[in-house]
Amino acid sequence: MGSEAEGNPPPTSAAAVTELDVSRLDFSALRFRRLLRAWYTENARELPWRGAQDPYAIWLSEIMLQQTRVSTVVDRYTQFLHRFPTIHALAVADEEDVLALWSGLGYYRRARMLHRGAQFVDREFDGKLPRTLGKLRMLPGVGEYTGAAIASIAFGESVAVLDGNVERVLLRILGQAERNGSQARARLLQVAQQLIPPSSRRPAAENRAGDHNQAMMELGAMICLPRSPLCSHCPVLEMCKTRGEHPTRPRARMQSRTVAHLLALRKRGVVTEVLLERRPADVSLMAGMMELPALPLNASQGREPVLRLRHAITNTNYYVQVFSEGAKPSGEADASLLEKVLATKAERKWVATSRLSQQPLTGVTRKTLQRLNLMSVPKLAIDA
Ligand code: ADE
Repeated sequence: MGSEAEGNPPPTSAAAVTELDVSRLDFSALRFRRLLRAWYTENARELPWRGAQDPYAIWLSEIMLQQTRVSTVVDRYTQFLHRFPTIHALAVADEEDVLALWSGLGYYRRARMLHRGAQFVDREFDGKLPRTLGKLRMLPGVGEYTGAAIASIAFGESVAVLDGNVERVLLRILGQAERNGSQARARLLQVAQQLIPPSSRRPAAENRAGDHNQAMMELGAMICLPRSPLCSHCPVLEMCKTRGEHPTRPRARMQSRTVAHLLALRKRGVVTEVLLERRPADVSLMAGMMELPALPLNASQGREPVLRLRHAITNTNYYVQVFSEGAKPSGEADASLLEKVLATKAERKWVATSRLSQQPLTGVTRKTLQRLNLMSVPKLAIDA
């Protein structure tokens, strides 16, 4: 793993990890902060929400970043802010329009919660985000981690953020084994809290607590990587007990699922329309979002799909096949695929291809329609 700096003691072996003693750190928190801060100042990625002063923009970025890669968030964040530039604009929007802008980010419950949160802030706090972790926790969709991120980054409150990246950084530094459970997490949060700079009266541009939290997350995302940490680039290597020699939980095994959808197109004058179906409100995944009508797998037997694609959602690989009416097996006298679809109960609508981007499409539906050239592919702002 990473190279050892001269004069450092050898790393603690993974087997020698001990129970976490949070009463004192065996290194200087002040030195840790300084090294981390200097590294962050030099190396932080330029991301559109870094340096944002508007607490709403910071709230939005933190909700989008929950369980979603930075590169996916970058584009959506900018589009979302452009369309809904204020809490009030978001509060009075239709949920359908909010979900349309969230399409492809996944975990659509976050968008619904953000929308409700905006309505709550608009009504109860006169459109201004509350400034403390305690109050921010009242917002739908804001838990301990997101609340601490917003409170520190937007308002400079000295509260530590503990996400998966920060947990890994701290466990490696301390030489602790990964442990599940709320007690282990609470102890780690105490350590994170010992490291964070105390609140200061400096102006917001000197937001030490917010920068420290972002630096910890950045260190986990860029250097202290789960599988091959780049220890030789780590600013706090001298304090690290493990130097990357740390057991990381194996990745969950990927599951596979095959699904089939119907591509039904019709012409209305010069306008091409595509049939979309709403996912039921009570399903656990992507409830209420729009997709191409689902086909039972046996309905398409003997037909060639017009498109096959793979789409990964968390630990499941979806193998998607799209069928169209055009491709019938020879001599088939069966009901058409469209008739089969229309015989099942679901909310469906014909949508002009030019209006697809305004629909709350699931990520895989977007990808499918883009591959079929029915929808344009937006240009990525950065390759993060
Ligand atoms: N993950 C969640 N919030 C983040 C932030 N502000 N910077 C980097 N990664 C993050």
